[in-house]
Amino acid sequence: MKRKTGQDRSITTRWRPATQAIRGGTARSEYGETSEALFLTSGYAYDCAGDAAARFAGEQDGMTYSRLQNPTVQMLEERIALLEGAEACRTMASGMAAMTAVLLSQLQAGDHLVGGRAAFGSCRWLTDTLLPKFGIGTTVVDARDPQAFLDAVRPETKVFFFETPANPTMDIADLSAICAIARERGITTVVDNAFATPALQRPMDFGADVTAYSATKMMDGQGRVLAGAVCGTQDFIDNTLLPFTRNTGPTLSPFNAWVVLKGLETLDLRIRRQSENSLKVGAFLEGRVPRVLHPGLPSHPQHELAMRQMSAAGPIFAFELDGGRTQAHGLLDALELIDISNNIGDSRSLMTHPASTTHSSVAEEKRLEMGISEGMIRLNVGLEDADDLIEDLDRALRAVGL
Ligand SMILES: Cc1ncc(COP(=O)(O)O)c(C=O)c1O
Repeated sequence: MKRKTGQDRSITTRWRPATQAIRGGTARSEYGETSEALFLTSGYAYDCAGDAAARFAGEQDGMTYSRLQNPTVQMLEERIALLEGAEACRTMASGMAAMTAVLLSQLQAGDHLVGGRAAFGSCRWLTDTLLPKFGIGTTVVDARDPQAFLDAVRPETKVFFFETPANPTMDIADLSAICAIARERGITTVVDNAFATPALQRPMDFGADVTAYSATKMMDGQGRVLAGAVCGTQDFIDNTLLPFTRNTGPTLSPFNAWVVLKGLETLDLRIRRQSENSLKVGAFLEGRVPRVLHPGLPSHPQHELAMRQMSAAGPIFAFELDGGRTQAHGLLDALELIDISNNIGDSRSLMTHPASTTHSSVAEEKRLEMGISEGMIRLNVGLEDADDLIEDLDRALRAVGL
């Protein structure tokens, strides 16, 4: 099939991921540039009024307005779709724009959604607050237990929505088991795959219908821009998602799309090196703190499942201190190298205290139910030398008596 980018899908889908990450989606202009061009334009000019009319009628190929199409954005969408093994992808202005659009585009009053309990704070806000406001019923379950999804199903259930690994508890959901339950009942599975990215885990290979991303995280990978993406079948993207996004406008800026295109070129290299660093740092912490939640370490209760679904555990993990918020904040304040930051997926190591930042909008009892204690800390391990990170942590742990 000839794609809008000019590339032939029968060829690009045969490329291996490393090739797709560099060349997938590239559409050269008449200047033959090697690096993808940045098309900073909000609109497009037509040769004649008839062409404008034909494009609006869908009778002529071409772009009409950058809320709907942009060449740089399309290159990114094609590249992500190829890496994901999806028929199509649509990018958004942020991860939350992607999550909101993927849910609101397919749900209406009277429908029901089953969501994972452990999730990014704003994703929980969508499930707990936004959807019920529009008459959409929601049930939150422990996503570690596929049976919990089955038990929560109602005749009006339309969507399962969860993260794996989950932010910040590192809970792992069994993709094959949950997606099979959904498939049998005609329920759409939406997986937030921000922590793993297609470089480590492709939920559609396990039966997921839709994957959604904060591309702000590992896909950009250098903490520069906000971006989001939704992948699914061409039918889902064209007929469910697009009518919502083209009229509500959570569009990704071409500049941000260009930055993420460059980020994807090094995604595999970065995520594998960061995963190695993360394992070294996690193993060091295991000897020093009461609890480490790292899916790559055998001590994680779902280590085997994680390693069946992911080719490496990724850069992010959590650990817990017994001294609650005071000790956790004390540790963060004693760091000299690792930054205190609520972002993840950056090539810099970043540490956050979820209860007082990313999950502070979630009520305390809900946080505890999700498994987020006052002593929990989340660490994104970057590309620095792991020994420098371990020295920084060693110093900070001693400062709080550990
Ligand atoms: C799992 C997960 N989903 C969604 C988001 C939201 O992404 P964004 O900040 O790009 O809107 C985040 C952000 O941290 C996240 O960790």
